[in-house]
Amino acid sequence: NYFGVIMAGGIGSRFWPLSTTEYPKQFHDILGTGRTFLQQTFDRLKKFIPLEQIYVVTLEEYVSLTLEQLPEISASQVIAEPSGMNTAPCNLYAAKLIHEINPEANIVVAPSDHVILDETVFVQKIELALNQAEKEEVLVTLGIQPTRPDTGYGYIQYLTDAKNKSEIKKVKTFTEKPGIELAEAFVKSGDFLWNAGIFIWKAKSILHSFQKYLPEMYESFDHIQTSLLTEEGKKEVKEIYSTVQMISIDNGILEKANNVFVIPSSFGWSDLGTWKSLYENSEKLEDQNVKRGKHIISYNTNDSLIYTTQNKAIIVDGLENYIVVDTKKALLICPMDKDQAIKAFVSDLKLNK
Ligand code: GDD
Ligand code: MG
Repeated sequence: NYFGVIMAGGIGSRFWPLSTTEYPKQFHDILGTGRTFLQQTFDRLKKFIPLEQIYVVTLEEYVSLTLEQLPEISASQVIAEPSGMNTAPCNLYAAKLIHEINPEANIVVAPSDHVILDETVFVQKIELALNQAEKEEVLVTLGIQPTRPDTGYGYIQYLTDAKNKSEIKKVKTFTEKPGIELAEAFVKSGDFLWNAGIFIWKAKSILHSFQKYLPEMYESFDHIQTSLLTEEGKKEVKEIYSTVQMISIDNGILEKANNVFVIPSSFGWSDLGTWKSLYENSEKLEDQNVKRGKHIISYNTNDSLIYTTQNKAIIVDGLENYIVVDTKKALLICPMDKDQAIKAFVSDLKLNK
């Protein structure tokens, strides 16, 4: 009764202009490995979850792209959301559906924007988490040792108890995307882990948490039954999504719940959420630059990422710590440290259209 849920409905706006609403980042092979992020996530889950029990939650407009990239799964394994309302509705919808298929289901929730280098350790940690989640009503997450005060992550503080020799720790506080000062204090204290965004819980347990912490959302989904994927069911889902609260599972549940546990983990994890993270995860050339694409020439340029999908020459001179991304759609030039702000650039762009 192990089920997988891949969350693949984000638009990856911090990877604009490569990631766009028509073709978001999870469907790209940004690292050039030959498999897209979605495919890599699927390959990882396939190692310990039966193929037919891996579900992908995505937006309606990406269903065909999902099936194209994952020819091994059937259409009934793609859960389509009418609109992107962040990860709380996505998890409630998936848990509800899976719970109806198997009331004892244990779910591994995986985002589709991660790199995991050591898959053996990854599987070990997940199995440990599944073991615990099966026995008790707990929400388990994996925690990563932070290396910088990144404001794009959730921060987890766990109870340190000398007597507790277990690898699974009870979470004391969970702070989703803190401000920079708080993030700096967290990293400095040495007491905090990054939330990897990978969750392990029983369908029953997470449904119960929704009932407790997001009761309105829970109730709005409550009356839809196995009809979920019929035409009638789809109409109901559309209605629910038109009013459902837009909130992440982290803000909506994990920050509030008192049955959250964390497994400190180290498996070469990185969230490829921004251009800066791609830069950090790539091998550097001379002058610490990363260049992807054809015809890129640089002078007096250091610590910069230059990425192009185009066939024309790019020449830069005098850049220090910059991001340059050229695609068919747009050209982005911004300081490396503004990587989180790209989200805002994209929404401004929409407003100015
Ligand atoms: N189906 C669906 N619908 N998927 C979604 C939606 C949605 O509305 N919104 C986001 N997703 C998917 C994204 O595609 C991604 O794979 C995953 O859910 C997580 O969303 P992000 O938007 O990438 O979240 P984040 O990176 O800002 O924060 C989360 O991950 C961090 C680690 O990578 C949080 O869990 C943080 O606490 C965590 O540190
Ligand atoms: Mg992310």
